[in-house]
Amino acid sequence: MPASPPPASSEPSRRRILVLNGPNLNLLGQREPDIYGHATLADIGALLEARASELGLRVECRQSNHEGVLLDWLQQAAGEGFAAVLLNAGAYTHSSIALLDAIRAIALPVIEVHLSDPSQREEFRHLSYVGMAAADTVQGLGAQSYVVALERAAAL
Ligand code: DQA
Repeated sequence: MPASPPPASSEPSRRRILVLNGPNLNLLGQREPDIYGHATLADIGALLEARASELGLRVECRQSNHEGVLLDWLQQAAGEGFAAVLLNAGAYTHSSIALLDAIRAIALPVIEVHLSDPSQREEFRHLSYVGMAAADTVQGLGAQSYVVALERAAAL
C-alpha cells in the first residue's frame, strides 16, 4: 500500500505573540533587584516560551531603549503576523503620547505589563499613557506579570 502523503504542516500554525520591552529592561537581574527581582530578560523570555508552548502559542521577545524603535515594532506587528502584543514600555509608559497613539492606531490588542506596581510607587509613575490605550494591564507580579499577560492574550 502506498504511503499516504505527509500533512502539509507537521503542527498546526500557532498564534504568535510579540513581547516588547522598553528602556532599561535589558538591565533586569542587576537593576534595582529589590524592586524588579533577580530574573533577567532572558529568564523571562524562557518562562514565556515554556508557557506559550503549553498554551499553543509562540512568543517573540524584543527589547529597545529607543522610543522610535518601539513605535516601529508596534506599527509593523500586524503585518508581521502577530496576533497580540505584550508591552512593558518602562519609563516611556509615563511619558509617551506617541506610544498611546500607536496603540490606538494599530489593529492588534496590546496588553500593558509591569514587573512592579507603578500605582504604588512615586506619583510620576501613576499616569500611564500606555494604559489609556491598552486592552488590559498586568502589573506588580514580578516576572509572573508577563506570564499572566500571555495567558490573557491567549484568551483574547
Ligand atoms: C516598569 C515600571 C516603570 O515605572 C519603570 O520606569 C520601568 C519598569 C516595571 O516593569 O515595573 O522601567 O515598567
